[in-house]
Amino acid sequence: MEKQERQSKSHVLALPIPAQGHINPMMQFSKRLASKGLHVTVVIFSSKVTKHTRRLGSVEVVTVDFVSYEGKLSSDDYSKQFQAAVTRKLPELVAELNNSSGHPISCLLYDSHLPWLLDTARQLGLTGASLFTQSCAVDNVYYNVHEMQLKIPPEELLVTVSRLPALSPLEITDLPSFVQGMDSESEYSFLLNHVVGQFSNFREADWIFVNTFTTLEEEAVNWLASQRSIKPIGPLIPSFYLDNQLEDDKEYGPSLFKPNPDGCNEWLDSKETGSVVYVSFGSMAALGEEQMAEIAWGLKRSDCNFLWVVRESERKKLPSNFVEESAEKGLIVTWSPQLEVLAHKSVGCFMTHCGWNSTLEALSLGVPMVAMPHWTDQPTNAKCIADVWHVGVRVKENEKGIVTKEEVEGCIREVMEGERGNEMRRNSEKWMKLAKIAVDEGGSSDKSITEFAAELGRKFH
Ligand code: UDX
Repeated sequence: MEKQERQSKSHVLALPIPAQGHINPMMQFSKRLASKGLHVTVVIFSSKVTKHTRRLGSVEVVTVDFVSYEGKLSSDDYSKQFQAAVTRKLPELVAELNNSSGHPISCLLYDSHLPWLLDTARQLGLTGASLFTQSCAVDNVYYNVHEMQLKIPPEELLVTVSRLPALSPLEITDLPSFVQGMDSESEYSFLLNHVVGQFSNFREADWIFVNTFTTLEEEAVNWLASQRSIKPIGPLIPSFYLDNQLEDDKEYGPSLFKPNPDGCNEWLDSKETGSVVYVSFGSMAALGEEQMAEIAWGLKRSDCNFLWVVRESERKKLPSNFVEESAEKGLIVTWSPQLEVLAHKSVGCFMTHCGWNSTLEALSLGVPMVAMPHWTDQPTNAKCIADVWHVGVRVKENEKGIVTKEEVEGCIREVMEGERGNEMRRNSEKWMKLAKIAVDEGGSSDKSITEFAAELGRKFH
């Protein structure tokens, strides 16, 4: 018994939202914590996870059956059911894991979109740590909305948050989509409350982590840190692509999708260096049929090779003759091994919806972007990609809100062919180096993770 106590480690229970863009950074943070000597269990409430017994270091993944989030994350009902299921199950799970693992849980690490888990942590006597999975610029906007929304009218607040001192001046269309619609009775009001609610107990949480790195968002980080201590720990990208500190760390881990078909790499191998446009709009964005057609014909007009992820649920929106007509230059898949794709030498440009993970992945792998934001935090990320970090161009919509095939073609050509494209590539390489420095041993993000692990270890012993 004594021997077991001496060997037991501080144990973190990590709980992401069951969406791919949230599981990935939580998984990566967990692996980095495990590499610092902690025991980590990640629990995913979703019946859609490819069953996964994989461990990396001391990371264990537990899945709890719960309806898949697809199309429901934005619904109030789903949120309530999710909260009820998690709060019911968690105490049981903690007791089970305490018994079975030999490492008593001392910390609940939760996605910032689930702030109510701080209460659960308190009830269970655990340290409560929150991981903010979006950019610090976006966090600045939501934080300020949270602080001011009861004090000033929506029209005034919109202008105020577009002129925050730590951010480049933003147009209203650069703000996160839920904020843009704040002055009207919008379909997004539930989601606005949800994202702003991340800050409901911002000051009370024991630790706040942000998936960014200081040199990328220095002013935004410093400003938010002036409100309370925060720890930038990103980019939360598998170590293989950055610092090679974690052995065998090429993937995030549990996935809600299976790459299909296999064989993207062979296809990419057959293409010339820098000749492929990789196109993906992440795990959630749903485009209209007209927009899908414009992208399709824009890709064809660009005359570049392309690898396009069109999720199963989106496939019926492709123009009927497109797959056959583009077979010579294009490969369409339902899900790709995105990191491997971005790291492949054939890929010259990433046409992206600017989800924060995709943005960080492209930055960290030095791939310039065509930014085509869809919703949520993506417009703000697109603004930074084009005008702050200068690593991409942002598409313009026509008066009907559509990005035309001519626009798609023009933006791709600008990144793939022009002198500006070369400049973007050079800028991307600069960010790639800075990302590596941040996560490398002794870098700013690495230091924060070490500090957290050491503090948990001290409390535990
Ligand atoms: C969501 C939001 O939309 C995003 O804006 C927010 O910042 C995080 O949550 P998602 O839309 O899925 O995420 O985009 P993103 O953040 O880019 O995350 C997608 C993840 O899935 C990335 O890590 C990417 O590497 C991975 N992916 C995507 C694949 O592995 N294969 C694919 O084919 C597509």
